[in-house]
Formats: sequence, C-alpha cells, structure tokens
Amino acid sequence: MSSSVNRYCCALGVALCGCACVGSFVVALHAQQARTAAQGVYTEAQATRGQALYKDRCAACHGATLAGGQAPPLTGDELTGNWGGPLSDLVNKIQNTMPANDSGKLTPQQSADIVAYLLQVGKFPAGQAELVADEAGLKQITLPAPPSRQPATVAAARAPSFPPAGNLAAVMRGILFPASNLIFNVQRQDPAAPRPPYQSSAAGFSWADWGAGIYTGWELVDYAAVALAESAPLMLTPGRRCENGKPVPVQDPDWIKFTVELAEAGKAAYKASQTRKQDVVSDVTDQIATSCSHCHEAYRDKRGPRTTTDPANKAARCVR
Ligand code: HEC
Ligand code: HEC
Repeated sequence: MSSSVNRYCCALGVALCGCACVGSFVVALHAQQARTAAQGVYTEAQATRGQALYKDRCAACHGATLAGGQAPPLTGDELTGNWGGPLSDLVNKIQNTMPANDSGKLTPQQSADIVAYLLQVGKFPAGQAELVADEAGLKQITLPAPPSRQPATVAAARAPSFPPAGNLAAVMRGILFPASNLIFNVQRQDPAAPRPPYQSSAAGFSWADWGAGIYTGWELVDYAAVALAESAPLMLTPGRRCENGKPVPVQDPDWIKFTVELAEAGKAAYKASQTRKQDVVSDVTDQIATSCSHCHEAYRDKRGPRTTTDPANKAARCVR
C-alpha cells in the first residue's frame, strides 16, 4: 500500500504529489522451472473440464468455436498477441473479469481449466501434469507471442491524418487529469464498494458526472487506465501547440522519453486494475504520479522571472 496519497492538484498549476510510496513486496521464489506453453503444461482431462465450463459460461459471447462474436476471439494470434507473456496474466484476466456479465465467480481452478482448454484449441500440446492454479506457478509459464504484427501494414499510405483539435493544456485537462485522479482515488475508495446513488434532483444534479453511474467502479478504473495509456501518442501529435503558442516539442528526446513513461504507467495501471485488488492499484499510482511530474518538472513548472502578469511563468512552458 502507498504510505501516502498521490493526488494531482493543479490549483496553481502545480503538481502536488505526496508520494513517498514504499513498495514492500515479498517475492515468493518458486522452485519451479521456467517453461513455455508449448511444453505440455496441461492434461487432456483438464482441457475437457475447461471445455464444459467454456460452453456453459463463455461461449455465448466468445463463440462456440472461440472465434469470437460479441466478444473477441480466444484463439490463435488474436489471443497470444494480446496475452503473450506469463500465463498468470491470462488466468487472472479470466478469473477477475470474466464472464463479463457475471465476473468474480470462477475459482482459480476453473480459470486454469478454461485456459487449458484455450491452449488445447490453440494447438498447444497436452502433457503429463495439470496446469496449476496458483499464481507463482503460472508465472513460470510463458505464452509465446506471435511474430510481431507489423505496424507498417496497419499504417496504410492512404490513412487519414488527424491534426490536433486542441492545445496541449486541453488534452491534459480533458483526458489525463480526470483519468489519473480517478485512479489516484482508488487509494481511498474501494472500486467494488457500492457508490452513492446517482442524484437527479435539482440540487444534486451534476451534469459533469452525468452517465458516471453506468459502469461499475472497477470498469471505470480500467477505462481511466486505458485513457492514460492511449493518451501517450497524443503527446507526439505533430502541429500541436501549448497554451502559450509554442509548438509541443515532439522531436525532443526528453519529451519522447517522458511520453514513453506515460504510456508505460498507463499500461501498468491497466494491468493493476485487472487484478481487481485495491492495494495493487494503490501501488501503481506512484508510477503514474512520477510519469506526470518528470515531464512537468522539465517542461511545465518552470522557474524563472515570475511577473505579476504571468505568475506561473507560463511563457516558459514547452521549451527546454
Ligand atoms: C457477456 C459476454 C461475455 C462472457 C459471457 C464472457 N466474456 Fe470474455 N470478454 C467479453 C468482452 C466484451 C471482452 C472484451 C473486453 C475485455 O477485455 O474485458 C472479453 C474479453 C475476454 C478476454 C481477453 C481477450 C483479448 O483478446 O484480450 C478473455 C481471455 C476472455 N474474455 C475470456 C472469457 C472466458 C474464459 C469466459 C468464460 C468464463 C468469458 N470470457 C465470458 C465478454 C464476455
Ligand atoms: C510528455 C510531457 C507531459 C506528461 C507525460 C504529462 N504532462 Fe501534463 N502538462 C505538460 C505540459 C507541457 C503542460 C503545459 C501545457 C500547456 O501549457 O499547454 C501540462 C499541463 C498539464 C495540466 C494543466 C495545468 C494547468 O495549468 O491548468 C494538467 C492538469 C496536467 N498537465 C496533468 C497531467 C497529468 C495528470 C499527467 C500524468 C498522468 C501529465 N499531465 C503528464 C506536459 C506533460
């Protein structure tokens, strides 16, 4: 848990991050050997159990043949492309967030059984021993990612261009600020706890929050994390200006480095949110706050001859 609360306060255009966060992890070292999913990590019998569960709990959305339907396909490169890496990620994703309309009810064993079935359909060979259901064991097994999907083929020559619609401050205030605050608030609020009912009386109507009651607390944390990660490329949109009219320094190596930090923090937050554990999300808030403040220290909160007409020295923003 964080020892203090990260909060992003911009009352004076200043980041106040009380973030003396001490991560105290106890790493349980497992004597198990690192393997890949291609080395027979489940049994036929286990996959058969998983198949029955899949048919009952998953097929309605992901399709009888796992080819997808109203939800993504769970086979082939589609799956390994998104979930290549420690098999624990995939098992946790299923156990914590699936079935999407009735999540949190699968046991670790059931989740592992379903993954055994996914591996079988994905043509990974069966072996002598069952896929274990414990986190440490699953971390030792890697789901191999497919040969990287070339971004070049996606970026077709005829792709439309998307010039900026607003300045950098607007992107910060519209996307990064609300998204990161929502995640920071997980330090104090359990996203699984019931929220106060939506107020629609004249006194209680909050047009700014309208619609906020549609998604569950954990879903909101997921979406805020995705918003942060996805906002990173917006830092590099050519032609954007800062509020002071200076061009965003998209070519500057430091700027690019801080943008990468932001993307990494967003992805880490999403991964943390997927655990559906409040303390895991609390721990990741430090990384988010740091990614914001690294860039702000260099490009935003500039010291200098503050004048009464420009007390925050905004004229010096976006230049090194
Ligand atoms: C009510 C529909 C629904 C049901 C039932 C459902 N899912 Fe999903 N599933 C989704 C949706 C929508 C997504 C995409 C959003 C997300 O990743 O959370 C998804 C995503 C996934 C993903 C990530 C796929 C990817 O490419 O990133 C996995 C794995 C998954 N589901 C497994 C399961 C399993 C296993 C079950 C059964 C225990 C199940 N789902 C049941 C709707 C459903
Ligand atoms: C790559 C650099 C960079 C990163 C990363 C970054 N910012 Fe910013 N941010 C800036 C700059 C530069 C400005 C000033 C923008 C302007 O003046 O147009 C700014 C301005 C802001 C403002 C507006 C302040 C005001 O004066 O009203 C907020 C709010 C903000 N950032 C929040 C965040 C949060 C939250 C994060 C992290 C999740 C973040 N920023 C990450 C560079 C960055």
